[in-house]
Amino acid sequence: MTKHVTGCGAAIAALLMVLPLQASAEERITRYADVPQDFEFYPLPPGEGVEEVYYGCIACHSLRTVTNGGYSRAVWDELLDWMVENQGMMEPEPDIRNVMLDYLSTYIGEGWEG
Ligand code: HEC
Repeated sequence: MTKHVTGCGAAIAALLMVLPLQASAEERITRYADVPQDFEFYPLPPGEGVEEVYYGCIACHSLRTVTNGGYSRAVWDELLDWMVENQGMMEPEPDIRNVMLDYLSTYIGEGWEG
């Protein structure tokens, strides 16, 4: 019995430690003005894939060109094609391209204020 209670307590303690972390990781920034200036990939908003987009897009223009954004996935998709076909961007590996597209449509997608 004592053992059981201890086990439960430990599980709850572990949950309590994990929950606030998850909550803050999911807090999404929805406009350029709210991106912290000391964020290492500023002006991009934090999110999975930010590093790929940062290094993949900064070679040719300001990332403010990217954070104007607010495009749907389909539009970002076309923009990436346009960048490769007409602007000399190196074709990203398919899985990297997917990561970029996920990031762009999730974090700088429709509803984003650039
Ligand atoms: C090889 C160079 C190059 C790379 C790399 C590049 N771009 Fe571009 N991009 C351009 C050029 C050139 C323009 C047009 C001039 C400008 O707006 O600066 C442009 C314009 C844009 C625009 C504005 C389009 C419009 O409607 O005017 C967006 C959005 C954009 N790029 C997104 C990206 C994203 C996202 C990436 C990374 C995945 C990226 N670019 C990487 C060259 C590049």
